[in-house]
Amino acid sequence: MAASFGVCRLFYLGLEPQTQRRLASTISAIKAQTGNKTARAAKEDKTFQAIQEERREQAERSVLISCPPRFSEKKFLDYLSKHGTINKHFFYSSYGAYAVVEFSSKESIASLKENTNIPAVEHEAAVPFKSRLLSLKWPGSQSNNQPVPNFQEQSPPSIGDITQLLSEKDSVDEQLQCLTGALQLTEENISLRFLVCSLLGDIAGAYFPECIIRPFGSTVNSFGKLGCDVDMILDLDGIYATSQKKGSGLSLEYQVKRGASERAVTQSILSVIGKCVDQFGPGCVGVQKILQARCPLVRFSHQPSGFQCDLTANNRVAMKSSELLFLYGQLDPRVRHLVFSVRCWARVHNITSSIPGAWITNFTLTVMVVFFLQQRNPPILPTLDQLKDLAGPSDKCVIEGNDCTIVSDLSKITLQKNTDTLEKLLQEFFEFYGNFPFNKASINIRKGKEQTKPETTALYIQNPFETTLNVSKNVNATQLERFVKLCQESAWLLQKREILNRSSSQSAESVLPWGFAALLLPSVTSGTGVKSRRKRKLEPASSRIKNLLDSLKIKGGETVAKKGSTNPSR
Ligand code: GTP
Ligand code: MG
Repeated sequence: MAASFGVCRLFYLGLEPQTQRRLASTISAIKAQTGNKTARAAKEDKTFQAIQEERREQAERSVLISCPPRFSEKKFLDYLSKHGTINKHFFYSSYGAYAVVEFSSKESIASLKENTNIPAVEHEAAVPFKSRLLSLKWPGSQSNNQPVPNFQEQSPPSIGDITQLLSEKDSVDEQLQCLTGALQLTEENISLRFLVCSLLGDIAGAYFPECIIRPFGSTVNSFGKLGCDVDMILDLDGIYATSQKKGSGLSLEYQVKRGASERAVTQSILSVIGKCVDQFGPGCVGVQKILQARCPLVRFSHQPSGFQCDLTANNRVAMKSSELLFLYGQLDPRVRHLVFSVRCWARVHNITSSIPGAWITNFTLTVMVVFFLQQRNPPILPTLDQLKDLAGPSDKCVIEGNDCTIVSDLSKITLQKNTDTLEKLLQEFFEFYGNFPFNKASINIRKGKEQTKPETTALYIQNPFETTLNVSKNVNATQLERFVKLCQESAWLLQKREILNRSSSQSAESVLPWGFAALLLPSVTSGTGVKSRRKRKLEPASSRIKNLLDSLKIKGGETVAKKGSTNPSR
């Protein structure tokens, strides 16, 4: 309802036609996301592991096909259907048009491949690697006057569009819910991510036939934003396998080469796979082997999907961290709304960055939100120790000596009744971290308590599973101070309540950002700190925002959109 109202209003917002189109497509994407929620609800009774396995298995029955600009969707599907039943398909564009097609059986893929040719190239030679990334050859004469298929959006809306969209809402709670809808990964985008992992698995399978490449991080932890990277683990020995196959009688073991250390073995495997991806992986470009990092990885762009990929190996704890965040995200809808809002706010104000450095990361921010929600009265989220106590025998998980056990069955978790609104939680999140004693206290989601800092780093957040490590070791005092000041400023703006009043004097030229949208205005990033903001106390927030809007010449969010487009992801 609200969304269609939004579409009508676009026509008197005075936006450029291009922005109108973008915003209309954002709104329809959000509508589609409502369907997405239904799909999520259907999966709710499944464990994290079962959901991942289901998606992986679907990806193995899928192909990715580059399509010409114009073609008949019906003829295309009729042609593919000769090889078996098609379960699902969708189209998207990224450096050209692509189709993802999921068959109901793997045999269809074999049949399709039998009828697919290695291209004849002139002046060059082709690496005859028969992957599931294909190109549709469409006879020129048949392509005219064909209706263009419906392309699914794979990139996030710009900050300008988001600001506009949120300002249309009637409450801060509605704004935060809408933001999650606009930014979260769609079902199609998740399928594409699993398919890219599966395609990579085919390459790595040349060396390790039984290996699986699994996504982790924000692709699977339910906090992923359209455009985020794809973190992958090369799983060589079944990370979900419970234990060694033990028997009392005769047994066999594999003869293996030995390396100096786990790290050395991981580096050597990633080095070889990296080279293979670089030389033989269709669509994989810009391959970098970053083997000296704390967690060695191979980074590359997968051009047909537009994803930046980070391939790691021997990284089971990270998968467990993803499961933990997923579980927290499923327990209460407010968790995801708050995490999406805080991540978006942090990205807009350059608290987080797509470049590695001394910044706070999205992972750190998410753990901070979880900790804050554990501190509510009554708590909204249980502690990690409570999740461990609820675990059954099959949940037992020890990785490299670290007890990573957590309950997998969500129905065993009883939550306390807490009715805080999102508006209240957002405001108190900023107050909480604006006043947190970072100089002496550390954040511990395992105990759900502040603890004395064991070392003098600026920010200490205990790693949930590797409890002697600090997940925010990289953060320096300057970056922490910027975060704290921005929290104080945002808390101050919300306390003043002026930005919480949706202005009734909306002109035809612009909709005045209010509520959460006002917190995304670039002005707040000025880094002037709370003191100087207090000096400006006499200036009402609404007129300051108005002045800012004028000075930034926001017309249909152009200026801010530009800012968003330079950093399309994260
Ligand atoms: P995006 O910024 O959206 O990519 O979020 P992300 O959660 O995917 O973060 P990122 O790509 O930086 O890292 C991927 C995953 O690695 C995270 O979700 C965590 O599970 C894990 N991870 C990242 N940083 C740390 C860290 O400092 N310590 C630990 N233990 N795990 C980390
Ligand atoms: Mg990531």
